[in-house]
Amino acid sequence: MPQHDVIVIGGGFAGLRAALEARASSADVAVLSKVHPMRSHSSGAHSGVNAALKSGDSWQDHAKDTIEAGAYLCDQKAVEVLCKNASEDVVALERMGVIFNRDSDGRIDVMPFAGSSHPRTCYAGDSAGHVILQVLYEQVLRSQIPTYDEWFVSSILVEDGMCKGVVARELKTGQNHAFYAKAVILATGGLGRVYSPSTCSLTGTADGPALAYRAGAPLVDMEMVQYHPTTLSDRGILITEAARGEGGRLVNKDGDRFMAASDAGAMEMAARDVCSRAVHAEIQEGRGENGNVYLDLRHLDKGRISDRLRETLWLLEDLEDLDPSKDLIPVRPAMHRPIGGVRVDTFGATGLPGLYAAGECASTGAHGANRLGGNSLLDCVVFGRRAGEAAARHSRGATWHPPQESLAIAETAGFNEIASRAPGKDTPGIIRRELGSLMNRKVGILRDEAGLKDAASVLRNLKERHSRLGLRDKDAAYNTDIISAAELGNMLDVAEIIIAAALARRESRGCHYRTDFPQRDDVKWLRRSVATRSTRGPIINSAPVVVTQWNPAERNPAR
Ligand code: FUM
Repeated sequence: MPQHDVIVIGGGFAGLRAALEARASSADVAVLSKVHPMRSHSSGAHSGVNAALKSGDSWQDHAKDTIEAGAYLCDQKAVEVLCKNASEDVVALERMGVIFNRDSDGRIDVMPFAGSSHPRTCYAGDSAGHVILQVLYEQVLRSQIPTYDEWFVSSILVEDGMCKGVVARELKTGQNHAFYAKAVILATGGLGRVYSPSTCSLTGTADGPALAYRAGAPLVDMEMVQYHPTTLSDRGILITEAARGEGGRLVNKDGDRFMAASDAGAMEMAARDVCSRAVHAEIQEGRGENGNVYLDLRHLDKGRISDRLRETLWLLEDLEDLDPSKDLIPVRPAMHRPIGGVRVDTFGATGLPGLYAAGECASTGAHGANRLGGNSLLDCVVFGRRAGEAAARHSRGATWHPPQESLAIAETAGFNEIASRAPGKDTPGIIRRELGSLMNRKVGILRDEAGLKDAASVLRNLKERHSRLGLRDKDAAYNTDIISAAELGNMLDVAEIIIAAALARRESRGCHYRTDFPQRDDVKWLRRSVATRSTRGPIINSAPVVVTQWNPAERNPAR
């Protein structure tokens, strides 16, 4: 029975950062991940990490931008923690070995990102994700933190109101094992694959929120699902906001810079939800071409672009045979990031003793109703570090009370039951594709009551089909069918919560846009939504927003 003080589930930025901090606090910590850490979705992040490093900028300006972008739904205490810690955490990354781009004085350079009043995104070309992940993983190896690669967690062990570990399946052998721990940190990443298209890797299957929800921990702000305005055709491949930061223009089929109608001041640097809705409208109203508008980089300096957007140029050449110095780039919006997640405090505590969460599966409330580009990676390093520290502290004060073995055995039964069913017409892939398309059409950039109710009803049918799903592959070793079925179960549970929360919020705020309630309503809805589990499905309640010094005001259209 493997046993550690702290077990981190997930090997992306938040997970590795948490593990390093737990080890620095002398905990016996291990990382357990369904893919090798270097294949985590974090490696796909192009942009960078926000920190007010330059003179003229300040953590307060960063906080104000974050709160305006979040349409005042942010927990301002969490925003303060995020922005005050940003510089130190970015410098800590640099000291570990992250090679950020430099300015002419040799200091960490920053680039402008949408919604930010100052350039403050520290970058490494347009491969920050890959660069940071490599460095964090090197540090994990250097610290001799054990990693259990290709282990899929199917449940959290809860006994006597405490988290006592997890049950996981080893992909290589198909064996289920209980892992006992005094503290577990969920850092499983995003839920992008609930939607299609999505910029998220195939691993983003809502595992953390689903596991926490079933274990009794509430989820917050699940209706807040951010779309990115510029992705490639129907594949959802991200064309980084940095391209617009460098001066890229959005044009329709007639060559008009249509962002002027939404925000003549900020234009392409308007907030992500504003840009996504504008692109969506151009396409819906017939001013796009083949379901796309265009990103135009042709007027930009070739040398600068090949220095700063090297990865993007390779992607465009490889996948679309395009040369952005000559060709327009066809783009459309796709689901990008969840803003909600497992409800946590600024040390990652979920409220269930021993269970912590950090990164994209968690929500401190720092991002409110919309997330600034560059704040996601920052969230992972700041709140990942703090969760690692807190989990180690918790484990020092806790004595070993391993759960009854029967609990671990019962938790593995679900897997064995799925594996025993005879195959039918449905496969995990068929249901997954239907789910993604449903969520994109009815619970996407624009929502209304009729569409959401329709989505809820179709989803019930998908859940019912999932409960009868049989598998063709009966092998134990590398049975990816069984993992896909379990991931699909996670996605369906979380989709149900997203729909319920979107139905409940009868206003428009940040990335949640209800065509039947197009205004923000601070009187009724300056509240965070809280989802808890019941036998009849999710129950949506609400909780007040924490305001420290930035009183709710009308939205600055550029944020
Ligand atoms: O456009 C981007 O590179 C996305 C950045 C982010 O979500 O932080």
